[in-house]
Amino acid sequence: MFYGKYPASRLRRLRQSSWMRDLVSETSLTPKDLIWPIFVRDEFSPADIQGMPNVKRLTISELQEAVQYAADLGISSVALFPYTPLPLRSHDGLEAVNPDNLMCRAIHAIKNLNLDIGVITDVALDPYTDHAHDGIIINGRVHNDATIEILKRQAHIQAQAGADVLAPSDMMDGRIGAIRGHLDENHFHDKIIMSYAVKFASSFYGPFRSAVGAESLHGLSDKKTYQVNFSNSDEAMREIAQDIEEGADMIIIKPGLPYSDVIHRAKQKFNIPIIAYQVSGEYSMIKAAAANGWIDGTKAMLESLMCLKRAGASGIFTYAAPEMAELLSAVMV
Ligand code: PBG
Repeated sequence: MFYGKYPASRLRRLRQSSWMRDLVSETSLTPKDLIWPIFVRDEFSPADIQGMPNVKRLTISELQEAVQYAADLGISSVALFPYTPLPLRSHDGLEAVNPDNLMCRAIHAIKNLNLDIGVITDVALDPYTDHAHDGIIINGRVHNDATIEILKRQAHIQAQAGADVLAPSDMMDGRIGAIRGHLDENHFHDKIIMSYAVKFASSFYGPFRSAVGAESLHGLSDKKTYQVNFSNSDEAMREIAQDIEEGADMIIIKPGLPYSDVIHRAKQKFNIPIIAYQVSGEYSMIKAAAANGWIDGTKAMLESLMCLKRAGASGIFTYAAPEMAELLSAVMV
């Protein structure tokens, strides 16, 4: 005596062979879905990054080679993050608006290659401030509106240098509208704004902070007054709605895998491309477990990325983009 549809229904029938599993696969992943975040340095800064296996800070000429390779692999775009030399960091982070800074030089160098690959730039002050916060600190607080004034100028010089997509990651209120207005006034109406609309105050950013040299937050110990509380999902939806209203073209949710529910919910609720960011800590956890022989790192990485797509992401930032693109172009998944 059996209850339900079994034995007429046997879901295992469609899992018997790989061709059949492929035929009924509901989600796909290709190099075109991937965005590769790259850390850029000058010739005098160190290449090695604490806590991110296989990831190094690249000089501008190494960056050019890397981007050429990414384009050959069919990776959609690269996202640039600068390691600002320490003497150039300051309380107000004004190196961020220097049109000849490392970021702008890197954009020019990539654009000179004339490749069919996107350039996404980070609009935020943390790689430029000596206290490592994403905004300027006035009277012991990260000051929202004063920070926005600098972000507008930062977006402007990045747009001028040739960035295709501007990605504000600072979590100040109102910055998307302010940046959009400023870009429009300056004839940059075609520049795409990919907003980090929902950036949670997460411990998974640890290795990234050492990569950009922003690990010690002076004075204020965390970013909880501007990044979203990780227990909240309604609030995440409000952030997205607000950024769409202010003129964002695409939305980033970050970190990735632990926040798949937020990605799924956003995908159901909004008709705008949602991008997931598999952050440094997620990447490094997989690498560390693999290095210990505890999991198969390549398979676990692929699974994580596929799960983010299944949750509703149209694209994914991942430090594993080149190795995954190599794998995906060899085997179609
Ligand atoms: C800050 C920024 C962070 C990341 C991207 N932009 C760190 C932070 O908010 O402290 C993290 C990315 C990662 O961990 O891979 N503007």
